[in-house]
Amino acid sequence: MRLGLIAEVALNETRVALVPGDVATLVKEGFEVQVARGAGERASIYDSDYARSGASIVDPAEAMQAEIVVSVSSLDAATHRAAEHHFDASTPCALRPNAVFIGMLDPMWKPERSLRFAEASVSAFSLDLVPRITRAQSMDVLSSMATIAGYEAVLLAASTLPQMFPLMMTAGGTLSAARVLVLGAGVAGLQAIATARRLGAVVEAYDIRPAALEQIRSMGARAIEIDLHKNDENDKNNGNTSDRTESERSDGYASSQSERTAARQQEMLTEYVAAADVIITTAAIPGRASPLLLTHSMVEAMRAGSVIIDIAAERGGNCALTEADTAVSHNGVTVLGPTYLTSQCAKHASQMFSSNLTAFLQYASIEGQFTINLDDEIIAAMLVTHNGSVLKPQTM
Ligand code: NAI
Repeated sequence: MRLGLIAEVALNETRVALVPGDVATLVKEGFEVQVARGAGERASIYDSDYARSGASIVDPAEAMQAEIVVSVSSLDAATHRAAEHHFDASTPCALRPNAVFIGMLDPMWKPERSLRFAEASVSAFSLDLVPRITRAQSMDVLSSMATIAGYEAVLLAASTLPQMFPLMMTAGGTLSAARVLVLGAGVAGLQAIATARRLGAVVEAYDIRPAALEQIRSMGARAIEIDLHKNDENDKNNGNTSDRTESERSDGYASSQSERTAARQQEMLTEYVAAADVIITTAAIPGRASPLLLTHSMVEAMRAGSVIIDIAAERGGNCALTEADTAVSHNGVTVLGPTYLTSQCAKHASQMFSSNLTAFLQYASIEGQFTINLDDEIIAAMLVTHNGSVLKPQTM
């Protein structure tokens, strides 16, 4: 089968969906791989590297005409333009009908994309819908990219903070260690904890899921435990309905909170926020806007010079002051909401993405033929459009 690797065109995107080592594996398995000229350049991978791995180097428009087209994320580009850098929704889809497209489509947040794929009769797979089950671990792009984002967020914080991270006894006196607070301890948060600890910071972390607290401790950080439902019994006795809900869903993700619980959380986190030099926020609820963890007044309680890195910025952010990809300064506190952290580490990000994508391609292929088995749990979870219909978004 012809597999096209296209060049990412999104601004700030430096990753590429397949690296030469995985191209060689796919060629061995019977795929005819066509790489769009220059596709890997921003990840320091050159056409000659792909050619040595058995791929042919073609024009971008030709790669787009393959039976299977793979990309990291630039799906708007993939559906509507070949090589030109002008997006025009009226331009017909550059993919051929009945093609398979695989990338990170974020269909729950951007459902209009699914419509475009369905209109073009493309079977689109969204790698970010990977089920978080052991069998699908090798395809888990979410974990791969979150690992990089957590690491890069700490590096960005360290280079923005006007002080060093470790405790130091110097000729100029004793410098105290930076205090880092990580809010949301999923994959990105745990990696942020590990990275901040390696740089010598004193780290505290909080997550709404009780299971995360033990993981925070195992990374050597202090787990902040707050009882969000402390007054529920009193409220009940006073005739108020309790809003106690489970904080963890059956699929392991966090549940969204009521406004009252969120307000309580903000109130109880304020003392930790005020004491932090750096806050890394990573809290997310799949398919929804990021929960608000840091209000305006919480930021005002922080010392001048402190830094907030909000890696949930793409979906509104965890901080009231966050503006995606813009540096905001408020009372001397810097708030950054970078949405391109994985692109800061293009080589490893591409390597991990490529490995996950290759595992998916291998999983879905029978004797070198990519097959859409709708009865398969993993395939069904990731298939967004098929036979002209939108299968996702669906309620989560
Ligand atoms: P995510 O990116 O959806 O969310 C990040 C973190 O934010 C989560 O830990 C979540 O609990 C937390 N969060 C949400 N609302 C919050 C709030 N109001 N306050 C504080 N924290 C809040 O999560 P991620 O990193 O994708 O992982 C989600 C789950 O999936 C975790 O339980 C993780 O252990 C599990 N997982 C399972 C894998 C598997 O193969 N079995 C692989 C990777 C993750």
